[in-house]
Amino acid sequence: MTEKREYRGDYPDRTLYIPGPTEVREDVIEAMCEPTFGHRSDRMTDLYTTIVEDTREFLDTDNDVIVLTGSGTEFMESSILNLVEETVLVTTCGSFSERQADVAERLGKSVDRLEYEWGRAVKPADVREALEEAETEYDAVTCVMNESSTGVRNPIEEIGDVVAEYPDTSFIVDAVSALGGDSVDIDAHGIDVIFTSVQKAFAMPPGLAVCVVSEDAYEREVESESASWYGGFQRSLDYYDRKGQTHSTPAIPVMLAYRTQMKHMLEEGHEARDERHREMAEYTREWANEHFDVFPEAGYESQTVSCIENTRGIDVAETIEAVSEEYDMVFANGYGSDLGEETFRIGHMGEHDTESIRALTDAIEDVAGL
Ligand SMILES: Cc1ncc(COP(=O)(O)O)c(C=O)c1O
Repeated sequence: MTEKREYRGDYPDRTLYIPGPTEVREDVIEAMCEPTFGHRSDRMTDLYTTIVEDTREFLDTDNDVIVLTGSGTEFMESSILNLVEETVLVTTCGSFSERQADVAERLGKSVDRLEYEWGRAVKPADVREALEEAETEYDAVTCVMNESSTGVRNPIEEIGDVVAEYPDTSFIVDAVSALGGDSVDIDAHGIDVIFTSVQKAFAMPPGLAVCVVSEDAYEREVESESASWYGGFQRSLDYYDRKGQTHSTPAIPVMLAYRTQMKHMLEEGHEARDERHREMAEYTREWANEHFDVFPEAGYESQTVSCIENTRGIDVAETIEAVSEEYDMVFANGYGSDLGEETFRIGHMGEHDTESIRALTDAIEDVAGL
């Protein structure tokens, strides 16, 4: 049994380079310190409509946006409930896409997996073959955009184009750890549902999940018998239409932080933000190739999380500990027991830039004697 460990007031302030949560600007943290106000007030409508419309502008989409209290996993679950009556094709290539399959199975859906070895990317041609060979049309296909456990960026645009040829099949994308740091033209590739958590490349404090929903997905859910109450697209979007508010009490302080951070994101602009993330990813890959190796399949490397193969056999746990103690910087080990020591991961997302990533790689070089 886990025993109580008293929360203290003297923790060191360490810079986060893990694949989320990530660094949050000071003024975004401060934005949370407003007196509480009612979630049915005009002030709430001002706040919620502002963050929803700003998100739509930032993501450059005409689809509907929901900002819901919870984490990204909420939409892993509710998008299955809302859109899958019977069968779903889940593409798996790492821990989070496997979680999506587990969630769908637990919800009693019939799940076919299109499985890839960890580190490999999902291929559009294989998705096409699976759709062609299916006995009945799938209700949905799911794909993770950025597999944070392996650092793979799946080609969701091409996969979306394939799924779009099957008009009765929804395309659901888990873009947690990607959106905000890796742009995608949501409306151009038949993406019915795409969701993220705000503590990743949006660089906000945790507590909210964002979901972009197509008109088709909204309509399909109206016909569904298993739709989620809390994560139902229809309930959230209808409530927004009528009142400009959320269906239940939201994490108002995090929404205040969201409002401030979205201003920064709009000011920087979608393209500039994407470019900054591309530069960080390129720098990290070059560094990894010089000292180690890059874990994901070539050509499918993530723009926000680098998974680095520990080809030199350094003690990953010890290096993380030493960098943390000596430099007050935290990066991540490999995911799970299999990759824990075989790889390590650097989150280059949100507020970071190439200089701040270089500060981390310098620290790793120093500690590991590279
Ligand atoms: C790709 C991916 N999907 C889903 C999740 C789960 O997100 P959350 O912890 O916000 O529920 C994560 C978390 O790291 C993730 O990286």
